[in-house]
Amino acid sequence: MVAATMARIRALPKAELHLHLEGTLEPELLFELAGRNRVPLRYETVEAVRTAYRFADLQSFLDVYYEAAATLRTERDFHDLTVAYLDRVAADGARRVEVFFDPQTHTIRDVAMGTVIEGIVSGLEEGERRHGITSGLILCFLRHLPAGDAMVTFEAARPFREHLLGVGLDSGEVGNPPSRFTAVFERARADGLHVVAHAGEEGPPAYVHEALDLLGAERIDHGVRSLEDPDLVDRLVRDQVPLTVCPLSNLALRVVDRLENHPLPALLAAGIPVSINSDDPAYFGGYLGDNYLAAHEALGLSFTELAAIARASLAACFVDDDERARLLAGFDDHLAAEDLAAEDLAAEPDLAAEPDPEGDPT
Ligand code: ADE
Ligand code: ZN
Repeated sequence: MVAATMARIRALPKAELHLHLEGTLEPELLFELAGRNRVPLRYETVEAVRTAYRFADLQSFLDVYYEAAATLRTERDFHDLTVAYLDRVAADGARRVEVFFDPQTHTIRDVAMGTVIEGIVSGLEEGERRHGITSGLILCFLRHLPAGDAMVTFEAARPFREHLLGVGLDSGEVGNPPSRFTAVFERARADGLHVVAHAGEEGPPAYVHEALDLLGAERIDHGVRSLEDPDLVDRLVRDQVPLTVCPLSNLALRVVDRLENHPLPALLAAGIPVSINSDDPAYFGGYLGDNYLAAHEALGLSFTELAAIARASLAACFVDDDERARLLAGFDDHLAAEDLAAEDLAAEPDLAAEPDPEGDPT
C-alpha cells in the first residue's frame, strides 16, 4: 500500500470505543511487572510469550489474558499500563478513548478497587496532558462469574463513581446471556452511568436483543453476528445503535476465518453506525490504526469510507453536546486541511504518480 495513504488513514482524528486496558499489556511490560511484583511467569522470553498468542477461540485467549493480568498489582502498574497505551494510540490519531477495565480480575487477587481505578485515572490524566486525548472509563463485569459478584463489584466501585463513565459486560459470552445481569445494570443506570455490552461476538443475535432490551445498552461491542437476524439489523438501523467492531480481534479469535470475509462492509452497507477498534491490541497484532489499515487492505474500504467511520466513532462517544461539537469540528478541520494537501499532491506530477506495487484499493 502507498505509504502516504497509510499515513493519511493513521492521522484521521478518531475515537477508540472498544479497548480493554488489560489487553494492552505488551510482553515487555509484562516481564517488567512480573519482576517488580515477583509474580512467576511460565514464559522465559518475550518471544515465547508472543508465540503463545495463537488462539483457537475467545476462551483460549481469555485464559492467557487473565493470567497475564495477574502481574498488575500496584497503582503505578495500572498507571504505567494506561500511559503506554495512550502514548501508542496518540500516533494513530486518537482524540478520545473510552476504555474498559475488568476490576474483578484484580479484586479477586486482593488488589483494592481504589488501587485499580486511581492508577488508571492518573494514567488517563497523564495521557491528556501529553497528547490532548480526552477519555472515559467503563467498568466491565465478568459474565462468566455469578451475577451476585457483579453486584458486589458495583458496590465496591461506587465510592469512585465520579471517575466512571459507564459499565459494560465482557468475558466468555456463550452460555452467559445478558439476562443474568439485569439487576446490576439497572442499578448502574439509576446512578446515571452509560451502558455498553459485548454481544454477538461468539454469542447469538438473541444476546444483542437482550443487551438492548434488558440492560439498556447504548452501544454494542462487536455485534458482528447481528447480520444473521434481519429483524435485528432493521432494529440497529432504525435506532442507529453503534457497533464497536474489532477486525483483527475477530480474526485472531476465529470469529471470522479470513479478514476478507469480515462482515464490516455488510454492516456498513446495511446502514448501521460502525466504529473500528482494537479490543486487545497487545494480543491481536495491532492497535487502532492497524485495524483501520486492515479494513483498507483486506476489505477494500477507501480512504473516504474510513474517514466516515472515524467521524462516526467521534459521533458515538458518550460526551455532552459541546464536547461532541468540538471533536467533530476537529475532525472536519483536519479533513479540510487534508483535501488541500491532497490537491497539492495531485498538482505535483512526480508525487501524485507514486507507484503502488501492491495495488492500492483507494
Ligand atoms: N475481554 C477482553 N477481550 C474480550 C473480548 N474480545 N470478548 C469478551 N471479553 C473480552
Ligand atoms: Zn472486547
